[in-house]
Amino acid sequence: MLILNKTAGVFLKPSKRKVYEFLRSFNFHPGTLFLHKIVLGIETSCDDTAAAVVDETGNVLGEAIHCQTEVHLKTGGIVPAVAQQLHRDNIQRIVQEALSASRISPSDLSAIATTIKPGLALSLGVGLSFSLQLVGQLKKPFIPIHHMEAHALTIRLTNKVEFPFLVLLISGGHCLLALVQGVSDFLLLGKSLDIAPGDMLDKVARRLSLIKHPECSTMSGGKAIEHLAKQGNRFHFDIKPPLHRAKNCDFSFTGLQQVTNKRIMKKEKEEGIEEGQILSSAADIAATVQHTMACHIVKRTHRAILFCKQRDLLPQNNAVLVASGGVASNFYVRRALEILTNATQCTLLCPPPRLCTDNGIMIAWNGIERLRAGLGILHDIEGIRYEPKCPLGVDISKEVGEAAIKVPQLKIEI
Ligand code: KG4
Ligand code: ZN
Repeated sequence: MLILNKTAGVFLKPSKRKVYEFLRSFNFHPGTLFLHKIVLGIETSCDDTAAAVVDETGNVLGEAIHCQTEVHLKTGGIVPAVAQQLHRDNIQRIVQEALSASRISPSDLSAIATTIKPGLALSLGVGLSFSLQLVGQLKKPFIPIHHMEAHALTIRLTNKVEFPFLVLLISGGHCLLALVQGVSDFLLLGKSLDIAPGDMLDKVARRLSLIKHPECSTMSGGKAIEHLAKQGNRFHFDIKPPLHRAKNCDFSFTGLQQVTNKRIMKKEKEEGIEEGQILSSAADIAATVQHTMACHIVKRTHRAILFCKQRDLLPQNNAVLVASGGVASNFYVRRALEILTNATQCTLLCPPPRLCTDNGIMIAWNGIERLRAGLGILHDIEGIRYEPKCPLGVDISKEVGEAAIKVPQLKIEI
């Protein structure tokens, strides 16, 4: 059973609540005169327990997050059962903190939106079962959220962006390029054939033992690579970008990780050190892997822009490219994408870094978008399940590959 604190207002006396509900039906609020739509968003798809309360004008009324990064860094990766336990330990506190910070009564919520796909089964399950209890208690509509849809739409909270726009989602669990034509209307242009770029960076960071590096010990792998790369020289190594010959918008990062591992082993031999010790050339390796990853991402995105313009799916001028997801908080990647958008007369928009990584705000905002569009608002939660795997939109990546668009050379010099 959930126990929300009394100050949050769940336990209103029945008589008072009746009056309140009556007032609400007229869209009248004693304190604020007119009540906006307000959504509570809950996110537990991976290793962050996050919640936020957002209104329809994009005001973040309250927010709370518990990151598990430090715990998982110690075990060298996410152990699903550990993530599940940490979500269980924190979800009530986090939701309560977000609600209390918002200073609204839970009865003022228009709906509760929760990530139900895709993600780690054990993690998704915690958020969903908590949300369903809350939905039952508060008698509110439930809005199931697709995690990647939420990442894609976050930009409409921070910027005035109309459909259609191109979105590049690059994180630890996902990597895709999609055309966003509406709140729930996506064309998938390409995706990673193996691991996501954030996963690759996390693996390289682990192989370099960056957790032992005094400047990086509390950083995620990607952040640690970005930090060290600033001190490194990418020209000390040369790694070819993946899928050089494939004229589509798909990605691949496993090869890059394996080649980098080989370089690390070679360097360890040369420097006479064991795996687990920090290489003197760690910063150079970080710079090289970051640069190669950025070039690969830019090339696929370049082809996606050309394809969409060729098919009139995007305007010829001032088309918008949105980059989001944990890896899009990387400033080197952003700079590389800026070079691309300048060369193609597009505009690059990225949410601020804290909204690029997983958070509750994007889930609540996705709830607002769906409420406004009247899409996927459930009044009956019977039979609702989480889905660990779930593609985004209509997959046209084959058509993109068949178009075989040649991408002109672009110098990424940062
Ligand atoms: O979006 P996110 O918080 O979670 C999902 O994967 O959905 O992304 C986390 C990923 C991790 O792999 C992390 O290493 C990477 O994003 N990341 C970064 C940076 N900050 C986080 N990668 C590159 N540069 C960064 N600054
Ligand atoms: Zn994410």
